[in-house]
Amino acid sequence: MITRANGFLKQLSGIPDVKQYTYKEMKIATEDFSPANKIGEGGFGSVYKGQLKDGKMAAIKVLSAESKQGVKEFLTEIDVISKIEHENLVKLYGCCVEENQRILVYNYLENNSLAQTLIGGGHSNIQFNWRTRREICIGIACGLAFLHEEVRPHIIHRDIKASNILLDRDLMPKISDFGLAKLIPPNMTHVSTRVAGTIGYLAPEYAIRGQLTRKADIYSFGVLLVEIVSGRCNTKSRLPIDEQYLLERTWQLYERRELVGLIGLLCTQDTPKLRPSMSSVVKMLRGEKAVDDNKITKPGLISDFMDLKVRPLQNTKPGSTMTTASTYNASSGSDSQDNSTLSLETSAAATSTFISTMSSETSAANTTSFTFRTV
Ligand SMILES: Nc1ncnc2c1ncn2[C@@H]1O[C@H](COP(=O)(O)OP(=O)(O)O)[C@@H](O)[C@H]1O
Ligand SMILES: [Mg+2]
Repeated sequence: MITRANGFLKQLSGIPDVKQYTYKEMKIATEDFSPANKIGEGGFGSVYKGQLKDGKMAAIKVLSAESKQGVKEFLTEIDVISKIEHENLVKLYGCCVEENQRILVYNYLENNSLAQTLIGGGHSNIQFNWRTRREICIGIACGLAFLHEEVRPHIIHRDIKASNILLDRDLMPKISDFGLAKLIPPNMTHVSTRVAGTIGYLAPEYAIRGQLTRKADIYSFGVLLVEIVSGRCNTKSRLPIDEQYLLERTWQLYERRELVGLIGLLCTQDTPKLRPSMSSVVKMLRGEKAVDDNKITKPGLISDFMDLKVRPLQNTKPGSTMTTASTYNASSGSDSQDNSTLSLETSAAATSTFISTMSSETSAANTTSFTFRTV
């Protein structure tokens, strides 16, 4: 077959065998990137809905950061991501690299993200009953366990949050944006302060000390679990102060033993080592493993994340920036090292706003008691 022969030739010449689209194809698919087809804007750039030549619908993500990577390096990364297949991961069809353009083409998912549906505050008609929520939690856990434990080398997602969980027409959850951290130049950060809530998902040790391990993803996953179970987003600044932070609220309920086996709390413990692995989480969610809720310690929480400065590296003094590489080994012996630079910097103030005391006396009179039921 011709295509196979081509693939073989590419392999021989070292050119990654990833599907490439022309810029013209992208323009046609999105009707010239028409605002009417724009479905979102995130830390990486704008996302358009589009129809490809073969009739398939696609989510077309135009990366805003000018890539410092050469075409070959970029294609190599895309090749790796596009070969990762799992029912709980969004499929990357391919990309477009023409001149400075970097566009990613993903499978389009009809039911939007968890941020806009379950947690979005009534903008959708989807009813999320307990069975559905449980299936969604298990699906996300399976997808993340796959990235953490099966894909070689392991992938730390770094941006697990409700808007990166997309739902297909049967409400099967699919994790999006994995493997992207390496594509953006180190002087940019995709963790955008503009995107409300993003920082609420960051594990304290990652946000404050730059320690990046799989446990940081597990923390974010824990926050997401609590959001899915409660149906609200992790920070709500309009609520009274003691109700603003969902994790803090959940801990209060847990201390009063109103909350049974909330795996989210297990995952968000301050000490990364105490957080379970994703494969254990899958077992717990499925009821195949007991949740030892006597041992859960207080969640790590950054309360005043406005103080957490997310700055481009280029504006910082040399040597003042923490890199994941330098702090990594101290925090974890077994996780694979991530060699990209973390461009999160924290002010001293952020460290001092770290919540270490959470009162169990704070009244929680008329709260909905959310119990995670494994039906
Ligand atoms: N594959 C996809 N299918 C459908 N919608 C998508 C897809 N990918 C992204 N989107 C939509 O585009 C929005 C922006 O995505 P993104 O650029 O990844 O930013 P973020 O994840 O920070 O919201 C998402 O919130 C989602 O609503
Ligand atoms: Mg996204």
